[in-house]
Amino acid sequence: MARKRIAVIGAGISGMGAIKCCLDEDLEPTCFERNDDIGGLWKFQKNPSEKRPSIYKSVTINTSKEMMCFSDFPVPDHFPNYMHNCKLMEYFRMYAKHFGLLNYIQFKTKVESVRKRPDFSISGQWDVVVETDGIQKTMVFDGILVCSGHHTDPHLPLQSFPGIEKFEGSYFHSREYKSPEDYVGKRIIVVGIGNSGVDIAVELSRVAKQVFLSTRRGSWILHRVWDNGYPMDSSFFTRFHHFLWKISTTAAINNYLEKTVNSRFNHSHYGLQPQHRLLSQHPTVSDDLPNHIISGKVQVKPNVKEFTETDAIFDDDTVEENIDVVIFATGYSFSFPFLDGLIAVTDNEVSLYKLMFPPDLEKPTLAVIGLIQPLGIILPIAELQSRWAARVFKGLSKLPSVKTMKADIAQRKTAMEKRYVKTARHTIQVDHTEYMDEIATLVGVKPNLFFLFLSDPKLAMEVFFGPCTPYQYRLQGPGKWDGARRAILTQKERIIKPLKTRITSNDNHSTSGLPWTKLVPFGLAVLATGLAYFRYIHW
Ligand SMILES: *[C@@H]1O[C@H](CO)[C@@H](O)[C@H](O)[C@H]1NC(C)=O
Ligand SMILES: *[C@@H]1O[C@H](CO)[C@@H](O)[C@H](O)[C@H]1NC(C)=O
Ligand SMILES: *[C@@H]1O[C@H](CO)[C@@H](O)[C@H](O)[C@H]1NC(C)=O
Repeated sequence: MARKRIAVIGAGISGMGAIKCCLDEDLEPTCFERNDDIGGLWKFQKNPSEKRPSIYKSVTINTSKEMMCFSDFPVPDHFPNYMHNCKLMEYFRMYAKHFGLLNYIQFKTKVESVRKRPDFSISGQWDVVVETDGIQKTMVFDGILVCSGHHTDPHLPLQSFPGIEKFEGSYFHSREYKSPEDYVGKRIIVVGIGNSGVDIAVELSRVAKQVFLSTRRGSWILHRVWDNGYPMDSSFFTRFHHFLWKISTTAAINNYLEKTVNSRFNHSHYGLQPQHRLLSQHPTVSDDLPNHIISGKVQVKPNVKEFTETDAIFDDDTVEENIDVVIFATGYSFSFPFLDGLIAVTDNEVSLYKLMFPPDLEKPTLAVIGLIQPLGIILPIAELQSRWAARVFKGLSKLPSVKTMKADIAQRKTAMEKRYVKTARHTIQVDHTEYMDEIATLVGVKPNLFFLFLSDPKLAMEVFFGPCTPYQYRLQGPGKWDGARRAILTQKERIIKPLKTRITSNDNHSTSGLPWTKLVPFGLAVLATGLAYFRYIHW
């Protein structure tokens, strides 16, 4: 039988993983990328042409290298834990080169439309129209992986800001912000307290006369550098913590986390305290914001009620005069114009089975990859989704009935509404380990902890207590990678390596790892916990 041909739309982080997963399952991918390079959002462009997402020059990723990497391709040990965008591109290029992915990408090619073929109910095939240099052509594919991301359309709600049309300074969406040079000595308002808003406010406050950070709701601020200087996500996302969360309540976890972040700086004193609980909202990560607030460079303000020619009037009726620049860091929304209404998006909401498959298709030959807003890390989740989708396309994994899928979608929606603040930002949330395990179970690659505790206690300990790194999903099942065990056992070394550029006298005394004599009793204790855990999650 001929190899099935799969169209991968977009060569960003989701798309690259998708190409690789197709190759692993012996499918034949063709990737269409409108840009002239890989990396999607992460490719810095000084003058982005179309209305696409675009990053500023200094962007550094807020998830750490051991947590955000492809599951069978660790980031080199000397790379920093949090990479600047150009370092990240270097890693993506290494990945693409190592697995020979570039051969499958058609650059400067835009997907115009994806339509069912007339015999779709039998063949499950698609007509894909693409355009390169103004020339259109139509191709037939057996499957589609939509990897166009969830940051597609800049969201600029000017109608919520009366008077903005007569404001005489400049105002624009954060996608147009590139670097601070042009803002020396200015008075600036940044609207929005998401990751870009906070980053830009902090960066500008070094050169501006004054920066105001305006927020309707406030936010909990997490920091990259967590306890003992470990990366936040690698300390936070462990199976052990996930287990604690399962056996306690979300409220208790919220109490604990809020206490932790408040001990760094009291969110109420810093004007940031939101109404909602920490886990009810998408987190903002910034190590610098409190430093810039305490030194007065950034002032936190409520929502802007109205603009005049030169001033901004806030909800608390305070006025800031002579504002030069307003930057709307109001985020992005997503859409799929090329899908011809196949996936309806209303208020940033979609109905997709496991956030991937439209439930109504006669054949499951189209999946959306990376359309998630994780309390966690997108890249490994997107990669795992692709692994599952490739197996569904091949017929190795079956989707349930339409009724079951719809019930699952409804259930997910209810859970989301209960948990999160209702906004367009919180329609596609997932919890990292929870969702990873959910998809991994469908692929057949969820690590079997019970078996691990018996057969390889040293590895089991790191899997359970250590960071829940993507390598865990390469230990067994389809796509098993022989390097996974080693990658897990050496992940801590790779975290510390790039930090330790000077040897300290302590280094001579340090013992590496736990001695076996300690491991045995500890292992027994862990086994008991593991058993409880195993039982719990299989109820
Ligand atoms: C990092 O920033 C992105 C972009 O704003 C955000 O979606 C993501 O949740 C952040 N990651 C973490 C771990 O907070
Ligand atoms: C933070 O500040 C608020 C308001 O002053 C106060 O009620 C609260 O006790 C403080 N929290 C801590 C942990 O100090
Ligand atoms: C560590 O030990 C080595 C070998 O004993 C010695 O040469 C070196 O000077 C020591 N380093 C420090 C920083 O004490």
